[in-house]
Amino acid sequence: HFYGQSPPVYPSPNMTGTGAWATSFKKARDMVGRMTLDEKVYLTTGTTSNTSCSGFIRPINRVGFPGMCLSDAGNGLRNTDFASSWPSGLHVGASWNKTLTRRRGNGMGSEFKKKGVNVLLGPVVGPVGRVVLSGRNWEGFSSDPYLSGALVYETVQAVQDVGVITSVKHYIANEQESNRMPANGMESVSSNIDDKTMHEFYLWPFQDSLRAGTGNIMCSYNRLNNSYGCANSKSLNGLLKAELGFEGFVVSDWSAQHAGVATALAGLDMTMPGGDDYWGSKLVEAVKNASVPESRVDDMATRIIASWYKLGQDKDFPTPGIGMASDLTKPHNVVDARNSTFRSILFDGAVEGHVLVKNTRNALPLSNPKMLSVFGYSAKNPDHNGPTIGSSAWVFGAESFNYDEFSNGFFGSAAVGNTPIAFNGTLYSGGGSGATSQSLAVSPFEAIVHRAYEDGTALFWDFHNGNPAVDPASDACLVIGNAYATEGADRPGARDDYTDGLIKHVADQCNNTIVVFHNAGIRLVDQFIDHPNVTALIFAHLPGEASGKALVSLIYGDSNPSGKLPYTVARNESDYAVLGPDLPDAGMFRKFPQSNFSEGVFLDYRHFDANNITPRYEFGFGLSYTSFSYGNLSIEKVADSNTDEYPTGEIREGGQIDLWDVLVRVKAEVTNTGDRDGAEIAQLYVGIPDDGAPVRQLRGFDKVFVGAKGKETVEFELTRKDLSVWDTVRQKWRLKKGGKYVVEVGGSSRDLPLKGTANL
Ligand code: NOJ
Repeated sequence: HFYGQSPPVYPSPNMTGTGAWATSFKKARDMVGRMTLDEKVYLTTGTTSNTSCSGFIRPINRVGFPGMCLSDAGNGLRNTDFASSWPSGLHVGASWNKTLTRRRGNGMGSEFKKKGVNVLLGPVVGPVGRVVLSGRNWEGFSSDPYLSGALVYETVQAVQDVGVITSVKHYIANEQESNRMPANGMESVSSNIDDKTMHEFYLWPFQDSLRAGTGNIMCSYNRLNNSYGCANSKSLNGLLKAELGFEGFVVSDWSAQHAGVATALAGLDMTMPGGDDYWGSKLVEAVKNASVPESRVDDMATRIIASWYKLGQDKDFPTPGIGMASDLTKPHNVVDARNSTFRSILFDGAVEGHVLVKNTRNALPLSNPKMLSVFGYSAKNPDHNGPTIGSSAWVFGAESFNYDEFSNGFFGSAAVGNTPIAFNGTLYSGGGSGATSQSLAVSPFEAIVHRAYEDGTALFWDFHNGNPAVDPASDACLVIGNAYATEGADRPGARDDYTDGLIKHVADQCNNTIVVFHNAGIRLVDQFIDHPNVTALIFAHLPGEASGKALVSLIYGDSNPSGKLPYTVARNESDYAVLGPDLPDAGMFRKFPQSNFSEGVFLDYRHFDANNITPRYEFGFGLSYTSFSYGNLSIEKVADSNTDEYPTGEIREGGQIDLWDVLVRVKAEVTNTGDRDGAEIAQLYVGIPDDGAPVRQLRGFDKVFVGAKGKETVEFELTRKDLSVWDTVRQKWRLKKGGKYVVEVGGSSRDLPLKGTANL
């Protein structure tokens, strides 16, 4: 087939009930067998409800099915009260901490459960981050599919362990917000991806989520190779259900369904928000007139009910939507989903996603400052937290006010213009359906005030002046800015002149200027970073409700920074492979916008390495208050590993099972050479001996705590899949037998002191 064309794959594979699905499959077949055609179709088609759930499936009481509530999103439950604001995906990515990611997933999942939410609409691994300015990259973990895959694996298992189904989204290649939906006589943008790039990059983290057992996948708004994401038989029937053995159900993104019969046959199982436009009574009709076989509807219903049974939602699950009041300004049933044990997870999560990238003249940690000055709009809380009168939308941090005020010309002055920032207050998350509805949050400034009060530090501040007065007696000046991003729009830029001007203005007068960004995406810094008075820089990402507490703990040295960049910070916009979205052109395809992913896998550091471009801060980089050294690399081929060129195992969720066999074990020693305890993220990169492969790709990481002057061993396991390339002819992962694999270990993608080879 031709580039940009999606081959047909029919019929849709039926659920088989293998492995972990055996029992729930049997129970589901039994329940579905007792349903009428109308009832089966109810399961597949969302309906309105008296709740704030994002989507709802009606109860079928006759067979003992109580209905289902599906709600946003991957950074915490939104549109409700008494829930926590968890660190956002990108912040979790910057922590590189699997254990912490799991703790977050457990906590977050149990909040959804308490509120009666059956399906958590997250986590996000699409977008992966192809487009630097894409509005939703912050909802995902990293621009690297391996890191994203490792963290989605932990998240899916953790959320599902407490009984809530994950909806891993947006499947697939939803890499930009511009033209994501059909509008003005134009179809959605088509992400055009070749088979190899699809497997080695975009499908990778979804595959990990299947391996983790996700019960649900959400198909996306965009078209893939010119066929809609929720009508694409190749991606749904072919890749997901056949090649990767997916046993759960596929739900459409909201209003991402544009055909009835075609989506049913292509492998969609549930449509949201539903109604009778395409399914509902129309699906009943389509079965009756034989356009859709009833067996396909049976399979949809079985997949949905099997997921519900598999997660134990038939027992011990609150009434769907019980804690999701439709109007928070009216008296309602109060369900407090929080738990005091979550507080340490929220705090640790907030701390570990901060990345210190510059620290000169011992600027940090602060030591007993006599006077501290604080500048910048992202230091303080917005003026409002709580329900908007007359609607259930929350307007705090990022939900809507920032963007609305931004687009309504809140900034007013031409100097600020089209500035991609949230001017009205600090960012706990980005905007749109991934925004959090925190019931309480501590801003950086509030935490600083408390600390300064204890220490007797003089404190000056000015949040809204671009040219504030600065007292040169300040021991340190903090400038706290942000980079806003939201669903539904791509960012106008990766830096902004207002904030850069503020930083330079302060730095001109304060010889110890410390910059902090709450950045919902990559933020460039070259306009100010070499100013001699800019002594420190922290990418604070989107920390969730413990933001201020975490920042103060870090800058005063109670916590030691341990995050690293899950993306590359370039010197210039033009250094990136893909900066902005592809926009429709005026030519013959003007009604069918096209986005050719012709760079293949050469994105982020793969692109910088291949083109010898020096980044400002490389992928995987981050500083600590201590320092680490590396030694004693050992590379061991696992003796009894099956090293056929191609996998031979049977297909289970995630694909052929022997793709996950460990073929090589790598160990190294990390020494803390400083006099402070700290944590180091050791990273392993592999150069696969294949024509056209990237110089190196992340294939392992291990975050270890190392006491001052101490030493720890880090360990990595390389699976068959980690060491393979996608063979487009055989349609299998291929190991490069006889090839010399280069294995590098170190503290970032450009600081790899240990190097060895593995021969397979
Ligand atoms: C659209 C968004 O793309 C998706 O992420 C979200 O879960 C649904 N709306 C439901 O709000």
